[in-house]
Amino acid sequence: MKRPGVWKMLMVAVCVALLSGLQAQDLPGQVSIILLGATGDLARKYLWQGLFHLYLEEVGKGHHFRFHGTALTSTEQGQEAIAKVLESLSCPGDMASGHCAELKAQFQQLSEYRRLKTPEDYLALSKDIEAQVEHEGLRETGRIFYLSVPPFAYVDIARNINSSCRPGPGAWLRVVLEKPFGHDLHSAQQLAAELGSFFREEEMYRVDHYLGKQVVAQILPFRDQNRAALDGLWNRHHVERVEIVMKETLDAEGRTSFYEEYGVIRDVLQNHLTEVLTLVAMELPVNTSSPEAVLQHKLQAFQALRGLQRHSAVLGQYQAYSGQVRRELQKPDNFHSLTPTFAGILVHIDNLRWEGVPFILMSGKALDERVSYVRILFKNQAFCVQSEKHWVAAQSRCLPRQIIFYIGHGELDSPAVLVSRNLFRPALPSASWKEVEGQPGLRLFGLPLSDYYAYSPVREQDAYSLLISHIFHCRKDSFVTTENLLASWVFWTPLLDSLAHEVPRFYPGGAENGQLLDFEFSGSHLSFSQLLPEQLVPGPDSAPLPSDFQVLTAKYRDSPLISAWPEELIARLAGDIEAAAVRAVRRFGEFHLALSGGSSPVALFQQLAAGHYSFPWAHTHLWLVDERCVPLWDPESNFQGLQTHLLQHVRVPHYNVHPMPVHRRQRLCAEEDQGAQAYAEEISALVTNGSFDLVLLGMGTDGHTASLFPQSPAGLDGEQLVVLTTSPSSPHRRMSLSLPLINRARKVAVLVMGRMKREIAMLVSRVGHEPKKWPISGVLPDSGQLVWYMDYDAFLG
Ligand code: BG6
Repeated sequence: MKRPGVWKMLMVAVCVALLSGLQAQDLPGQVSIILLGATGDLARKYLWQGLFHLYLEEVGKGHHFRFHGTALTSTEQGQEAIAKVLESLSCPGDMASGHCAELKAQFQQLSEYRRLKTPEDYLALSKDIEAQVEHEGLRETGRIFYLSVPPFAYVDIARNINSSCRPGPGAWLRVVLEKPFGHDLHSAQQLAAELGSFFREEEMYRVDHYLGKQVVAQILPFRDQNRAALDGLWNRHHVERVEIVMKETLDAEGRTSFYEEYGVIRDVLQNHLTEVLTLVAMELPVNTSSPEAVLQHKLQAFQALRGLQRHSAVLGQYQAYSGQVRRELQKPDNFHSLTPTFAGILVHIDNLRWEGVPFILMSGKALDERVSYVRILFKNQAFCVQSEKHWVAAQSRCLPRQIIFYIGHGELDSPAVLVSRNLFRPALPSASWKEVEGQPGLRLFGLPLSDYYAYSPVREQDAYSLLISHIFHCRKDSFVTTENLLASWVFWTPLLDSLAHEVPRFYPGGAENGQLLDFEFSGSHLSFSQLLPEQLVPGPDSAPLPSDFQVLTAKYRDSPLISAWPEELIARLAGDIEAAAVRAVRRFGEFHLALSGGSSPVALFQQLAAGHYSFPWAHTHLWLVDERCVPLWDPESNFQGLQTHLLQHVRVPHYNVHPMPVHRRQRLCAEEDQGAQAYAEEISALVTNGSFDLVLLGMGTDGHTASLFPQSPAGLDGEQLVVLTTSPSSPHRRMSLSLPLINRARKVAVLVMGRMKREIAMLVSRVGHEPKKWPISGVLPDSGQLVWYMDYDAFLG
């Protein structure tokens, strides 16, 4: 049956809808910006100014704006606070004051305060925006929600926006988030998943304000515009090292409740410095103005970062920090914090471009100056014949060659890009960058300013203004995507975990720090340059009590002590053994190393086997310090342990391996087989003066060392080099180097690990020379060096 009336009505309705759709497209658009936390610190200092800046930039370009400042405070209080901030807004210096006043008044008119707390508040806001847009004959283009609130509030707010405050069809939504974005990989994943259930990836804008710093934002355009000059230079063949630095003079006072949970690595390195690192290290996309390409290349840079180890970092804490935490967080007088306020980190990138180039990341509070920069130092193989006074900056290849992205502050006190004149003259967009005027006497990174091509922005702009403009223009590459955020946490979390109990080096703060925090690297190890005579070391618990703190001199029984957590201790010992080996082989052509058995050295053997590729194994002789009287293939044999954990994995010539002859003529340690004498003869024949280059010992809970036991006189003195002894525990029969032979060594290292050793370590620290009671106390090299390697468990229990 035909129903012409209904049909006609339907047609009319469709036409009206289409027409109104067409008309809506033609209407001027409105963007609503909702600033949550509008009365907070960040908003007052930067965000309102950034919004005003956006307004100045965009007004007259076809968009209408409305600004809604929101918070949890009452309408009256909020309005008052906002009015004050709006009054303080400023225009760029080159804008006529009349024009400025006019635009400011417009902006004030377009801004309002409202309380935004309950789901009803969100719904009301949405309705109000719709009504106002309709009333003014506009079309809604989009809504920006800027969340300047603590992260615990994110999820509730996200839920409310999603359920009651999304704009209608055809209008976009952008939600801006401020750090912290999690505390480690797990919490970041959790937060990302929660936010992901409310917003699509393209709707989220995670702010890292360093990406809004003018010089940081210029890194990729600079690399792009100077491709011709940089193509051959930006790689491991030419770059000596890269330094990414943020030094601060301020400390954490007033924000310890945040800082105590985060510390310098999470606060600054995981985000700001890592973002900068990726901009320097990433492959340059063909089209640097494609946000997708930039983000993709950034992600690839993350994937090439080599995992960090505990020894990739040095940590410090300014001395006043714990006191500030106690005051601000009402902690008891005996509270001491381990939170680092200073960190230096050595990063390596495993790809063809950067293999072997050290990237040093460093940041700290309470340092001597405030400055942030990236310095790319190039290798220099030039030799200049003329004396220095004849060197010409633009020509001499002998002057340092470097590119510096001077992010801000410091002696220059403005952002700048500096390129040594002996490198090339860089191209920068002349409309926005100008040459820096000379400042006589000013030297930066070893060169007078005049030795650089130096450019600074024509108009300095605050990071937040730039970022707010990029949010408006959908420049996603200036923000942190979920993928990149998680990639950063994947990189940092293992290090943070391994440093959780690390004791930072305490520093006085400011200029008084002197050289205390200087650090240096060798291979992939980073360490402070200055060894401290003493260090406060807390117990292994994360919240140590003062009774856990002890002043540990870096000496033990008057000899040097190296104390650390086990992994680091083993790494250090392995490094020291390698260094001794290299030295000995260089001087004498061979290295004689006598090793102990038991469980403590297993980790050391593994470390030597796995990570010391330049160890001169071909010139190393391996000896045993002691042996159990069991066949060499017995699992209890010290030689068997050495074989399993080390010898199988390295290339030591078999004639350089010297097991103890405990098994002769199918008998074990029979006196008449003279195994001990045979070993002594072998030593005398091969080891000059019977002086091993290095003897590695352990210490038993009864004070024994090697197989020299208390109350058993064999081997404690006399002429014998190798002796048969009796152990209180099975297998009882042992063969051992004697104390006099051990004491002839050039270096003796005693490795003591584990809580079980705590008591004996305490006791031996106090006893004199009493080898009969504690054979270990008889270890005193005649002219060699004795070094104690103790882990914190052995030392502090
Ligand atoms: C912030 C950190 O993200 O960056 C602060 O939380 C730090 O601890 C600040 O002081 C440094 O930023 P800027 O812009 O002063 O270099």
